Parts: sequence; C-alpha cells; structure tokens
Amino acid sequence: MKEDFYKYQAQTSPNPLAMEISHAKGSYIYDKNNKAYLDFVAGVSACTLGHQHERVNNAIKDQLDKYSHVMVYGEYIQDPSVEFCKLLAENIPAPLNKTYLVNSGTEATEGALKLAKRVTGRSQLISCFNAYHGNTMGSMSVMGFEERKRAFRPLLPDVDFIHFNCVEDLQKITTKTAGIILETIQGGAGFVEPFDGFLTKVRERCTEVGALMIVDEIQPGFGRTGKLFGFQNYDVVPDVIVMGKGMASGMPVGAFTASDEHMNLLYDNPRFGHITTFGGHPVIAAASLATLRELVETDLMAQTLEKEKLFRELLVHPLIEEIRGRGLMIAPMTPSADITNRVIMKCQDKGLILFWLLFEGKAIRITPPLTVSETEIKEGCAIIIEALNEVQKELGL
Ligand SMILES: Cc1ncc(COP(=O)(O)O)c(C=O)c1O
Repeated sequence: MKEDFYKYQAQTSPNPLAMEISHAKGSYIYDKNNKAYLDFVAGVSACTLGHQHERVNNAIKDQLDKYSHVMVYGEYIQDPSVEFCKLLAENIPAPLNKTYLVNSGTEATEGALKLAKRVTGRSQLISCFNAYHGNTMGSMSVMGFEERKRAFRPLLPDVDFIHFNCVEDLQKITTKTAGIILETIQGGAGFVEPFDGFLTKVRERCTEVGALMIVDEIQPGFGRTGKLFGFQNYDVVPDVIVMGKGMASGMPVGAFTASDEHMNLLYDNPRFGHITTFGGHPVIAAASLATLRELVETDLMAQTLEKEKLFRELLVHPLIEEIRGRGLMIAPMTPSADITNRVIMKCQDKGLILFWLLFEGKAIRITPPLTVSETEIKEGCAIIIEALNEVQKELGL
C-alpha cells in the first residue's frame, strides 16, 4: 500500500507521515498493525466529536437511507440543510441569520470575499500577515505568507496586509475596502490570540468606512474555544462568519453566514453569484446538524476551558517556553523547530499524534476532539513530557 501511495496518490510534501490507517474510534486511531494512537490533532481540528461518534454516524446512515445528492445547491428543500442553517442562526447573534453551505473552508472563504465585493461594490481586500484562509486562488491571495504563494502569482489584485493585533494598521481599512478577513485566533501563525479590544477596533473601523468584517472561524469554530465561535469570546458581531473543518465532525464541509440583507445580494445581479453542485449535500448537512445539536445540547463547549486548564497544569517543562491559544486549540512552544520536530516524531512512535502549525515551526499543535477525556489528556501529556525529557537528554540541554 505504501508503494502505491507514493506512486499513484499525489503528495502535499516530500515527507508525509504515511501512517497506514486501519480504523478509528473515539480519541484513538489504529494503524494496520493495530497499534493505537491517541489523537491530539483530530484531523487538524476537524473531528469535533472524535472518531465514529454515534450521533453523527447514525445521522449519516439515516440520511443515506433516505436520499443522498438529488440536485445542485439551493434548488430543492432538503430537511437537514434547512434545519442546520436554522439551528445555527438560533445560536449566533443577529443579524447573522443566513447561511450558504459549501464544500470546504477555502470555498467558504471565496464566497465571503465575493460577498464583500458584491455588498460594497469595492474591490480592495485586507488580510493579516501570517494569516491562512485556504489554498485556492482567492483565499491564497489573502494568505499572509509570501513564500508559499509566490510561485502561483499573479493572484488577486488589490489585496493589502496589516499586522494582526496592530491597531495603527487599521487605518489601511478605508472607504475603498470591500472587507477585511481575519482569524479570531491565528492558526498557522502559531495560535495567536487577538489582544484585548483588537477585534472591537476592527469592528469599529469597518463600520466607520463601510467595509465588511469577515471572521474566519474555520479552525476555532464549533466549540473549540469555549464558545460556538471564537468571536463570541470578544464581544463583537462580524458581518460574515466563515466556517468549515469541525462543522461536520470530520466530513468535508464549509459555510459562510451573513445577514439576510447581505446574503440576498449574492443571488441577484448577477444571478447565481455563487453556485456549487455539492454544497449543502444532505449527508454532510445531516452530519453538521448532528454535530451542532450535540454541541448545543451538552456542556462540551464549556468543558474545553476546563480541559485547557488541565493541559496547562500538566505541560510544565523547561523546553516549553509558553503555551499559546485557548480551549482545545493550544500550542506549546519549544525553543526551536528542531526540538518541536523531535518531540512530534517521538510522540508518534510512543502512540500519541501531534502535528505542526503551517507557519510557526516552534509550535506543537494540540487540537484534540472536544470529547477527549481527562484520563486521555493525562495519558497524552505524560507521553509529551517523556518525549521532552528524552530530547533534552539527546541535545544535552
Ligand atoms: C483558518 C483556516 N482557514 C481556512 C482553511 C481552509 O480550509 P479547507 O482546508 O477546508 O479548505 C483552514 C484549513 O486549515 C484554516 O485553518
């Protein structure tokens, strides 16, 4: 299988982890030798309720038994899609009440950027340095990391960048700006949280100049930071929310939400301002609805903050300089990318899955399923400390 993987399936890097997967359940993934790996990554923040969650699996199976794809997005009335959009609207502040369902995070970003242009009639887009919003041409244009996009230029014109958390830079948002897009916790940058009041200042500036404030909740969204969406921790109401990843507990998905007034502009002048064949797919929507119901009917979201505390108590080591992030989106920072690499690889050998962040080599990604138990957190942290001790010895630190 490994040979065929390298031969026939396109790779994203020269050195994929190449673990051969047999099955997964709860917080564990099993390889073909039936070795269990405790999963502290959750498919990169996607498996909100862990692997094979009964409620999600049943929703998928029930929907498959009724119907699967029947029509392109937006024509027919399909219960799971409508119910999901309604429940979402009931759990976020007004006037954010209308959701467009798409297939991935990057497509949701594309939709949001198009919406900002359509609503304002302006072309300029602002983003942040070190931001990640997806990998298609539009979303890559607002990625704040030149090295990874240079080869694909020319990208979208009229895109400018500001520094995350820099209030002075907000003057770059003007009456020429269609919208600013920013993550509520910068993921690829190393789980960087907004300073007190930064998002409020972004909101104020956008309102002042009539630009749309777009928040990318693809990673923090769906409960990972204690609230359904990260922005809800900061007392602001954006114009557009972009979501994906954890929305359907591991199924491919994306969506963007705005007000009725704004969203309705997307279907007229021109008609079909955004169209998609598979967006709102009933099986994916059923998984999304089951995930959202589980989140709003249990205390899983609140528990993420308790679990964060436990991680912070247990992950004390001379090679951990700080722990960034919030809830179950945290990143212990080591002194170097080399140490981080060693720790991640050692942990994998010891049966614990950790991962990297896109642009910050010193960060160790910890984004477990929200369902991770106290015992599992203790088990995983013990492995991390053991790995750190070994690296410390190896490097004579
Ligand atoms: C903040 C953020 N935005 C956008 C995306 C892109 O989502 P997708 O990979 O589903 O296209 C990601 C994925 O890592 C992300 O973390």
